[in-house]
Amino acid sequence: MESEKNQSVPLQDQVLINYIESHMTMEHPNQEIPEAGVRNLISLRDEVASFERLMMYYECAMSEVRTKLEVLNKELTHVNKRNPFESIKSRIKSPSSIYDKLARKGLDFSVENISSHLNDVAGIRVICSFIDDIYMLRDCLVQQDDVTLLEEKDYIKNPKDNGYRSLHLILEIPIFLTNEKRFMRVEVQFRTIAMDFWASLEHQLKYKKNIPNSEAISEELEYSAELIHQLDKRMIQIRDKINGSDL
Ligand code: GTP
Ligand code: MG
Repeated sequence: MESEKNQSVPLQDQVLINYIESHMTMEHPNQEIPEAGVRNLISLRDEVASFERLMMYYECAMSEVRTKLEVLNKELTHVNKRNPFESIKSRIKSPSSIYDKLARKGLDFSVENISSHLNDVAGIRVICSFIDDIYMLRDCLVQQDDVTLLEEKDYIKNPKDNGYRSLHLILEIPIFLTNEKRFMRVEVQFRTIAMDFWASLEHQLKYKKNIPNSEAISEELEYSAELIHQLDKRMIQIRDKINGSDL
C-alpha cells in the first residue's frame, strides 16, 4: 500500500516527505520539523504552484481576447472583403520580466503582487493596415458585454516624445473555470504595419547600450515617425479612392 501511495507523488515532493518523515520518529511524535529550510522549501513549492496556476489563468484570458479579435476579423472580412488586421501576436510575460517589473515598482515577487500590480502579464499585439481599422476594432471589442475597459492610452492621437504611436488598452475579462469565474487583465496594443516597423527599430535603440550618435539616431527616428504617420494617412486616402472607383 505504502509504495502504491508513494508512486503517485512527484519525485521532488517524495524527497521532502521522506526527509520530514525521517525526522518525525515515534520516540518524539510531536517533534517540530528541525530544518526551517524544509518548511521554506514547501512554502516555495506552494508559491511556485500558485504562480503556475496564475499564469494558466492569464493564458486563458489571452486566448479569450485573441479569439474575440479573430472572430471580429473573420466577420469583418466576410462583410467588407478586406481584413481589418494583418497579424496578431500574443505572449505571456516571462518570469524574469515579471520579476524585473515588480522590482522596478519596489515590490516583491509574489502571486498577490503580480495580480494586483501588473496589467501586462498577458499581452496581445494587433497589427492593422489602416489607422481607422484600429479604432473600429477597438470599438467592437470594448462594447462587448463581458469586456471592461480599465485603461486606455492613445499614443496615436498623442504620440510619445520619441515619436512612438500605438493604441494601448487594458481590458478585464472573465474566464470561466470549473468552480469559479475569475476576472483577468489583458493588455492589447494596436498598431499599423508602419508603426510596428518603426517600434521594432526604436526598441533596438532603447535596449542596445553604447550606440554611437544615439542622439542623432533619436532625432532621425522622431522624424521618421512623422513621415510614417503621414504615410498611414495617405494610405487611407488611396484606399478610399480605390474603393470609390468601384461605386
Ligand atoms: P511599462 O508597461 O512598464 O512599459 O509601463 P507603462 O504601462 O506605463 O507603459 P505603456 O503602456 O506606455 O507601454 C507599454 C508597452 O508599450 C511597452 O512594454 C512596449 O511594448 C510599448 N512601448 C511603449 N512605449 C514605447 C516606445 O517608446 N518604444 C517602443 N518601441 N515601444 C514602446
Ligand atoms: Mg504597461
